[in-house]
Amino acid sequence: MEWTCFNPTQIIMRSGAVKEYAFRTLGRHALLVCGRTSARICGALDDVREALILQGVDYTVFDRVENNPSVETCFAAGALAREVGADFVIGVGGGSPLDAAKAIAAFAAHEYADAESIYRDGVSSALPVVAVGTTAGTGSEVTQYAVLTVASASTKMTVKSPLLFPKAALMDPKYTATLPLRLTVSCAVDALSHCIEGYFSVRASAYTDAVALRALRMLGNNLGKLRSGELSDTVRGELLQASTMAGQVIAQTGTGFAHVLGYMLTFFEGFQHGEANAQFLADFVASMGSARPDKANTTLRALGLSSTEELRAYLRELIPNTPHLTRAQVERFTAISARSKSLANAVTVIGAKEIEELFGQYAD
Ligand SMILES: [Fe+2]
Repeated sequence: MEWTCFNPTQIIMRSGAVKEYAFRTLGRHALLVCGRTSARICGALDDVREALILQGVDYTVFDRVENNPSVETCFAAGALAREVGADFVIGVGGGSPLDAAKAIAAFAAHEYADAESIYRDGVSSALPVVAVGTTAGTGSEVTQYAVLTVASASTKMTVKSPLLFPKAALMDPKYTATLPLRLTVSCAVDALSHCIEGYFSVRASAYTDAVALRALRMLGNNLGKLRSGELSDTVRGELLQASTMAGQVIAQTGTGFAHVLGYMLTFFEGFQHGEANAQFLADFVASMGSARPDKANTTLRALGLSSTEELRAYLRELIPNTPHLTRAQVERFTAISARSKSLANAVTVIGAKEIEELFGQYAD
């Protein structure tokens, strides 16, 4: 029954969150980090600029964050933050800009020899970060993780430090209103996988279980709406709450093999993150159920489902695209995935043989 918990991020989950936040308390110059388009389309970037101007805070915009941002991009933006004298970083967007904002905050506060040395040296200091979420899935707004693409490792790698928890998560559901259905579904499945992988973590506690199950039920209530595409403001609001709560869960528990294997499909096959996780999520519940059948039943009940096969069929209906792998890819993906430390994070630890079977189901 022993556990600790550290969730230091202030969460403002309501319409108008950006306008009510006192950015000026964090300094006089902000580096505003976003991608090329979505932060503009949803109105979040304009709202942040307006708030900064009203509060007399100067800012520099870095809008070159790519999907699945590379560690090199963050390294370059960290140098820019130092150059312009940024006191803090504001990330605006989905998981990619938010994760990038955290890494940039670390690169800005400490001069590393090169981009990848952040993985060797760790994070010793970081500028404060404010996260303005515009998707409902990543949970990055409340975690200490920055997941970046590392070309030399052929996968995504996580920078992790308590210093990377955002100071505040400003979550206004109106920013998610313009998200296309396919991205909304992919993000919701990412949140679903955070709940499920966190629930079966060896680091799960009574606290994280409570949060994970409440978020799972909220997602479960909206599974039909995700399928039919009827995304009312109420549905969007519930998806946003569930995704932030799921983020709080994985901040304590870490993720499991659906993420580890999913990274391969994103890195090599271009799958969206949530769509990649979806390929392995039913297998994850089935595998974990061998150690914790009670938790597997609770998970399925919370989603209104009765078996892992029903979960598999539902996910397939929601995300019809599946990978088509060669045997050589199966071997390569297995070799890379088997090195992940996250595998040991779950109540059932799988090895190379099981990983090969999981990828193998998508081979010719
Ligand atoms: Fe994720």
